[in-house]
Amino acid sequence: MTGTPGTAPVVIVGGGHAGFHVALFLREEGSDVPIVLVDRLDGPPVQRPPLSKAMLLSDTEPRLEFRKPEFYAARGITLLRDTAARIDRDRRVVRLGSGGSLGYRELVLATGCRARETTVPGSGLAGIRVLRVPDDARAVRDALAAARDVVVVGGGFIGLEAAAAARRRGCAVTVVESLPRVMQRVVSAGISGHFRALHEAQGVHVRTGTTVRAFRGDTRVRQVELADGTRIPADLVVLGIGVEPEAGLARECGLAVGDGVEVDGALRTSDPLISAVGDCASFPAGDGRRRRLESVQNAADQARVLAARLAGRTVPFDAVPWFWTEQFSAKLQIAGLLPDRETETVRLAGDDAFSVLHFHRGRLVAVESVNRPVDHVAARRLLAGEARLSPDDARDPQFRLSDAVAARTG
Ligand code: NAI
Repeated sequence: MTGTPGTAPVVIVGGGHAGFHVALFLREEGSDVPIVLVDRLDGPPVQRPPLSKAMLLSDTEPRLEFRKPEFYAARGITLLRDTAARIDRDRRVVRLGSGGSLGYRELVLATGCRARETTVPGSGLAGIRVLRVPDDARAVRDALAAARDVVVVGGGFIGLEAAAAARRRGCAVTVVESLPRVMQRVVSAGISGHFRALHEAQGVHVRTGTTVRAFRGDTRVRQVELADGTRIPADLVVLGIGVEPEAGLARECGLAVGDGVEVDGALRTSDPLISAVGDCASFPAGDGRRRRLESVQNAADQARVLAARLAGRTVPFDAVPWFWTEQFSAKLQIAGLLPDRETETVRLAGDDAFSVLHFHRGRLVAVESVNRPVDHVAARRLLAGEARLSPDDARDPQFRLSDAVAARTG
């Protein structure tokens, strides 16, 4: 498939959350350009958040597809199962793994991230799994049905969600995290402590500040050996040790790449006909630094900005980042980004349902809410700049986040 720039499609490489939403929003913008969505996975685009949650908890598979195949057919969106192997920028063509090629008028890189692998001895044994695509989740779910001892390497979102599911399914579970606390990359120390205690109360063994020295077994993994020599029995190992941006295509065709594909505030790469969006995109954060966010919210919000631009409209990219995770009975929702520096914190409400407000130089920068969805919604509005709030306001015993939004914007 090729085409001259006039008739060539918008080609989107990657049918994850970002790629799907670019196609969806382009149509919502009223654009009728042909769209081709290329992905190496079979079937229509799927959502990933259930893969480490509902998908592992039950044999009844949750619905993963964003839309049925007919949706795409009816809207002139071609789903192409193939691999984008190379970009020829001079000819405005994507070379495909199958041998064909695809001309583009605009190219969107929505290639996401790949799961980080480990190279410690024994990494190739059967029974060691990552959790990234639906088939990974199906394999882990099936393995959980037969497993007795599960070791989860990495105490991030994926690791802790998988640990909670494995424990709920009756397995003995150990989490091995190399940093001093769980979810350290994304949450404050207090929230790490709360979630660690929650896992331990449910019988999960949490080992922080240690790493895996080797996986032991014959053909299958049988034990995980830690740095101090401790050996933990394992019939299943789930690796949740982070992800790396898929930026190879961009790098090989000479686009600027750092921690991800570098884009400007309008999500353009160093080639104005090529954009990048979602987990793979490194964008200017406004404080002189670049940022790359791994979240479905960011993927959808950037997709909206990009689709508008491709349709000829300018929409500013100023969305408030948010994240969530569910582990056992606790739903954690985070609005905003925790700065690297210490923050002044104010804690609201009780023991099992509470929010922690983070202020930097007197300004609200992030709110972590555990089982407090009302606080989370209010926090997003406050952080979007609808109202100002000081730490002293929040310390008032009568203070409610939702009242703060209502009072100050009403
Ligand atoms: P992550 O970066 O959140 O966590 C990885 C954890 O593994 C970190 O705590 C890190 O210190 C630890 N680690 C790294 N190497 C290690 C090693 N060799 N031994 C022991 N620990 C090690 O990444 P994660 O959990 O793998 O998730 C992957 C992606 O999926 C992320 O982008 C995450 O944000 C996303 N995700 C988001 C969810 C959500 O929003 N609820 C749920 C699941 C995944």
